[in-house]
Amino acid sequence: MYNAPFGWITPEELNYLRQCLDNHPELYTVVCLHHNAYRVNSAWLDQHELRNKEELLSLISGYPQVKLVLCGHVHQETDFVKDGVRFISSPSTSIQFEPLSFNFGLDSRGPGWRYLTFTPDGGISTDVYRLPFEMFRPDFAIGGY
Ligand SMILES: [Fe+2]
Repeated sequence: MYNAPFGWITPEELNYLRQCLDNHPELYTVVCLHHNAYRVNSAWLDQHELRNKEELLSLISGYPQVKLVLCGHVHQETDFVKDGVRFISSPSTSIQFEPLSFNFGLDSRGPGWRYLTFTPDGGISTDVYRLPFEMFRPDFAIGGY
């Protein structure tokens, strides 16, 4: 599945995650993925989501030490809590995808990044920062990246 644009976690990767979570129930855990394990309500981009996300979500539901699922790929910021787990995506340090777009579209916001702070009690705080748009102008005429 390494040549496909969508996300997929192999059984081996899921087993490795399960093993890590079994071995360290005392550690608050962040699961980091490239692809999003949830839809962002952009039809073109949601085709790329983690296709077997239910397997991942089912696995982590049994491990309350998992506090965060962090991803990229969507080139936009999202942040929500579902079933006690926080799901966060970061903007891209290059182009930004237009949120809530049916077809491919670029957002006019500048490149961004996210800082995350973790506290010993399992708390998470985060902020997004962006370069001014003038510092990076993508080609808005392009039909995809
Ligand atoms: Fe990607």
